[in-house]
Amino acid sequence: MKVDALIIGAGAAGLMCAIAAGQRGRRVLLVDHANKVGKKILMSGGGRCNFTNTGATPANYLCANPHFAKSALARYTPTDFIALVEKHRIAYHEKELGQLFCDDSSKQIVRMLLDECAAANVRVETDCGVQRIRKAPEGFTVTTARGDVHAESLVIASGGLSIPSMGASGFGYEIARQFGHAVLPTRAGLVPLTLSGKHQEHYQDLAGVALPMVETRVGKQAFRAGMLFTHRGISGPSILQISSYWQAGDDLRIDLLPDHGVGEWLLEQRVARPAAELKTVLGDVLPKRLAQRLCEQWFESRPMRQYHDAELLQIGAQLHAWPIVASGSEGYRTAEVTLGGVDTDGLSSSTMQSKLVPGLYFIGEVVDVTGWLGGYNFQWAWASGQAAGEVI
Ligand code: FDA
Repeated sequence: MKVDALIIGAGAAGLMCAIAAGQRGRRVLLVDHANKVGKKILMSGGGRCNFTNTGATPANYLCANPHFAKSALARYTPTDFIALVEKHRIAYHEKELGQLFCDDSSKQIVRMLLDECAAANVRVETDCGVQRIRKAPEGFTVTTARGDVHAESLVIASGGLSIPSMGASGFGYEIARQFGHAVLPTRAGLVPLTLSGKHQEHYQDLAGVALPMVETRVGKQAFRAGMLFTHRGISGPSILQISSYWQAGDDLRIDLLPDHGVGEWLLEQRVARPAAELKTVLGDVLPKRLAQRLCEQWFESRPMRQYHDAELLQIGAQLHAWPIVASGSEGYRTAEVTLGGVDTDGLSSSTMQSKLVPGLYFIGEVVDVTGWLGGYNFQWAWASGQAAGEVI
């Protein structure tokens, strides 16, 4: 079979790219080895797909080259994707911080993208793995489960390594290396962190206990959001966000009460409630089980009147810098994204085309561009897919 463009990977980026190219009258074949398209879209946002973030800027992305994502993100914005969602009459709402979710179901986003593909005459083949890719004089010859395909342009949209049970594979990285591209080391991002040894022993039975607002920090990067204890460690949005900036051995700082001057507040409480025990007082601003556990671990709980100023200020300081050491992450099994990937040095930032092999493109998560939690990753998938789709 001969096509103008073959796109490998029918996820967010591949579907978007196919639509843009199909709308230009290109003959597009979109293949995926999974049995249905857009599996990660379907499972995203708790089944409601956090499809974009109205505040997305290049600062919300990790990439070895912080300028790389600028061009694509500026040319296909959250407003463009919202217009598509509205054209398809999909009801949506802002949850918080610019995060837009479907009111009803992620299925609507997949349906919308497939309807757009159909309108643009894109041919979509699922259960179609790719065995071999060869450079041909005019394009590429790709051996797929349905036979050989000759394509002028070849787009790799096969995603990252997170959630292997959903069809994730290292395929895109292998193809990049085959054609001489550098692949930056990959690791799990937006992922719960694990504790071990005494840190795990102290907190594992608190699984399910949540704090509405903590501040996590690695170096200069900080996030304020909720935190959750799990059986193996810590999770919740503030932990997922900082996990992308943390590597084993890095100093992870967690302020359990970022909105309180805790030391000063404890001094006031000593005056107001001299007979109250410390754990009871802390239970007013922290989950009660956590307040009790912290008192068991660090400071015996006595009536407030028995503490000196220095002791209360020291307790406050420890709550602002919780001495916890993460041992690792839950890994690709539960990670939302893969950090690292195809080195952007080898790609055009305006078209995603390879600088080494004309006609070859890499889009979406396979590229070394990773967004924060909150709809940023889909926005990168749409924007990079559109950028390639406009030129293939
Ligand atoms: P994606 O992974 O979507 O698609 C790649 C496709 O390639 C898959 O269909 C796969 O089957 C196919 N493929 C892989 N290897 C292949 C091969 N060898 N041959 C053929 N096909 C192959 N982001 C966000 O912005 N908002 C959110 O709400 C969420 N929620 C969320 C929840 C969960 C649980 C996860 C795991 C991830 C998210 N994300 C997210 C992240 C988001 O899903 C992700 O960044 C995008 O799906 C990336 O889009 P891509 O198209 O690049 O890859």
